[in-house]
Amino acid sequence: MNDRVMIFDSTLRDGEQTPGAKLNSQEKLEIARQLARLRVDVIEAGFPISSPGDFGAVQLISREVKGPSIAALARAVKEDIDCAWDSIREAEKPRIHIFLAASDIHMEKKLRKDPQTCIEDAIRAVRHARSLTDDVEYSLEDVTRAREDYVCKVVEAVIDAGATVVNLPDTVGYTVPEEYGRLIRNIKARVPNIDRATISVHCHNDLGLAVINSLAAVQNGARQVECNINGIGERAGNAALEEIVMVMKIRQHQFPYETGVDIKEIYRASRLVSKLTGIPIPVNKAVIGKNAFAHSSGVHQDGVLKDKRTYEIINAEMIGGQAAQMNLTARSGRHAVRHQLESMHYSLDDEEFADFYNRFLELADKKKEVYIEDLEALIVDVSYVDPVYELEYFQTVSGSKTLPMALVRMRRGDEVFEEASSGSGPIDAAYNAIDKATKIIPVLENYNLRAVTRGRDALGEVSIKISYEGKKIIGLGVSTDVVEASVKAYVDGINKLIKLLSYYNSRQGIVPGK
Ligand code: KIV
Ligand code: ZN
Repeated sequence: MNDRVMIFDSTLRDGEQTPGAKLNSQEKLEIARQLARLRVDVIEAGFPISSPGDFGAVQLISREVKGPSIAALARAVKEDIDCAWDSIREAEKPRIHIFLAASDIHMEKKLRKDPQTCIEDAIRAVRHARSLTDDVEYSLEDVTRAREDYVCKVVEAVIDAGATVVNLPDTVGYTVPEEYGRLIRNIKARVPNIDRATISVHCHNDLGLAVINSLAAVQNGARQVECNINGIGERAGNAALEEIVMVMKIRQHQFPYETGVDIKEIYRASRLVSKLTGIPIPVNKAVIGKNAFAHSSGVHQDGVLKDKRTYEIINAEMIGGQAAQMNLTARSGRHAVRHQLESMHYSLDDEEFADFYNRFLELADKKKEVYIEDLEALIVDVSYVDPVYELEYFQTVSGSKTLPMALVRMRRGDEVFEEASSGSGPIDAAYNAIDKATKIIPVLENYNLRAVTRGRDALGEVSIKISYEGKKIIGLGVSTDVVEASVKAYVDGINKLIKLLSYYNSRQGIVPGK
């Protein structure tokens, strides 16, 4: 029996620290549910003291998501730890995750504290956390630039104080595999009580070494790996979960370890995180990039047709993707469409499916063939937010010698709002008209357009980020017409924003946009 390596997913905490990746509570819950399906061991759901929104999201996930442990991050201070505990106390398996600087540069320059004071803070914090729960992780921030003697002292002290997991983060992505492996080995050899805790690793990707450093640590005794879906995270990101797991799966001989991850859920998790954070997956991304299973050279295609193994070490089906192209068209019946969705691991209830099928037919009328990627894009378009405003109609005018204009008609319950506006282009004009109709004028922080499939009739998928009164929201829209996709994304963003604002304003009785 191979050794078990625990997978600690920090997509919702370190991953969310990616610039521009802000998620709301519902989006976090949706991702957490998918992480539970993926069967990660631990979900780090957030840093509760950092904001009421983060606290609420961690609490929601703790209440709703069963299976993995739910971890909440805290600095080594009582207030943070109490707040973390309040957010996870209803979880099936709660974990408090405390971090404190271990390197001289962090202690001196950031904390302005001496090493002895930091050890005392660490012990006090771990003891306090252990008085609240049995599962306490302690992270020695920036350990790869710390003095080894000091590191050994801290590790021993926090284990004595009750830490059950000791994490050795390469906070700035500085280490290299041989050096990191040696650090783990030395700690195992030098810390007398090390057998009472699990050694965890957490690698950042500043030099592109996060995955290989994590694997080197496992080979030297680490038994928990902290990693994120699609490798998102602070700065250059963290070790990519899908890469860590698939290396261990494909190269069992070199890495004879087991994880509990259901690899069939990787593809779906990856797509979901990309959609909700608005961070695209690079086409050449290992394991889950769009090109990872595409063969373009004639020699490769010939080889693959004769025997896939000539050029393929992983296939899309293994991770829950779909290799074979299928031809859904406007003539494909409900049964075929539902069957295809199920094979892609999407299960919609009857009402959701009816809505989905109508959208499918609308699209199939415009395109000859509907690809898997199109279906996925349409799924995302079936938003879980009941729309406050519905877009009934829009029209834009633009050209090389015309002032771009837009007319929109929106419905809110029984009220209809029709507005016209100009703009620097048709999308800007439409957004201005929508602002007039809804009386909400958010800042457009980010706009992304991507072609979902190939060809001139490809679906365009627009993801935008808007901000309003300190709240940031992602809106998504899909259509073969890029202006329509842009308008749908904006309306989706505004609807989500209204939901979020009414949640915050409910106590004061403010109705946004009125
Ligand atoms: O990179 C880091 O050191 C962290 C800690 C909080 C574990 O994210
Ligand atoms: Zn980190």
